[in-house]
Amino acid sequence: MGLPRRFRRLQIDERRAAVEQASGVDSAAFGSEPRLIDLSDVMVEAAVGYTAIPIGIATGFVINGTPYDVPLATEEPSVIAAASFAAGIVARSAGFRATAPEPITTGQIYLEGCDPSQVPTITGLEEELRHHVAPLLERMARRGGGWRSMEVTHQSETDLIRIQVRIDVRDAMGANAVNSVMESLRAPLESSTRGRVVMAILSNEAAERLTTATLSLPAERLARAGIAGAEVARRLVLASEIARTDPARAVTHNKGIMNGISALALATGNDTRAVEAAAHTYASRDGVYRGLSRFTLEGDRLEGHLEMPIAVGTVGGAAGIHPASSAALSLLGKPSGRELAAIACAVGLGQNLAALLALVTEGIQSGHMRLHAHRLAWAAGADSSERADVVGVLEERGNYSREAARDALTEIRSRGTGR
Ligand code: MEV
Repeated sequence: MGLPRRFRRLQIDERRAAVEQASGVDSAAFGSEPRLIDLSDVMVEAAVGYTAIPIGIATGFVINGTPYDVPLATEEPSVIAAASFAAGIVARSAGFRATAPEPITTGQIYLEGCDPSQVPTITGLEEELRHHVAPLLERMARRGGGWRSMEVTHQSETDLIRIQVRIDVRDAMGANAVNSVMESLRAPLESSTRGRVVMAILSNEAAERLTTATLSLPAERLARAGIAGAEVARRLVLASEIARTDPARAVTHNKGIMNGISALALATGNDTRAVEAAAHTYASRDGVYRGLSRFTLEGDRLEGHLEMPIAVGTVGGAAGIHPASSAALSLLGKPSGRELAAIACAVGLGQNLAALLALVTEGIQSGHMRLHAHRLAWAAGADSSERADVVGVLEERGNYSREAARDALTEIRSRGTGR
């Protein structure tokens, strides 16, 4: 494209003009709301604006007896529809149960040049190190969080000493706080041990953030597409077994779960990549990549269970600054970080239930294509009064292509039947 070398040093309006000049792209495509353009500039380097990912609300969730309407940000047409559908079925049977543990984030420091025999000495430094970083954790400690413990181990594969610190981040995303703590331990560790810190960083493994969601439904409620509920339930159990034993299927199964969780993470300004990395690591914890959820039959009830690490926060990060994420959190009743994790887990399980239900009965494509047809109609130039008719024609003909949408629109306009 040939942008100037000093591009990142330009003012944001100059960057937008430079992009237009170099590429012919209209910078309005990167948003035109002045305040959000300004916000983009403080959120990321070399910003040119923002992208508009749709945000919708999956309605009707009941989680631990509390009703929630859940904001989800996603580009995928079926995600919100599927979440609301599952929320409705599960709400009729007491809703989801979900729990999230104390929000412990860990960070690791890798020290080279030390002998394994120094492990006890370094362990003995805990009080000193804790004292050293206390000012950085003061606000977290005031909210009941802060330093919890430190473990020192020798890693034989790399011959490094690993110092792991556990920090309770309360409702914060905590990445900046934990990374600051880790980095500020570098100097005292180096001076006390004569070792050299190779790196100091938090872990996204989120191993202590194991969140669970469950559901329990009478199998008869699952009847659909002319298939008896008990048979649908049997197929769901089989589907979850396939995902537990075949990684090729497990990936897509888990992707379906993450459709809901990542969309909620994005809507609330959380780090979607961190949440996803933790989920996939957990999915392969025994050396084989497996589905994260499990469905079983207990008598005539289908039981659904999802357990996975979910490290999300409700203060700090983008949640604290982006108006859309603050609004999304307000819609959820300003939850704590743990409550948000529990909601995310329930949404993930609901999303999974909806996907599996479709997969083992009529398949997912009929629903997907119906939603996709709205995009095709829009892309063909149909306005809001014409879209339903174009979608109707595409459905009738079972042809979901751009050409078919254009032809349908031309026909509708020539007949003058647009509503
Ligand atoms: C599509 O985004 C998600 C699904 O493929 C999930 C699944 O297959 O379980 C429908």
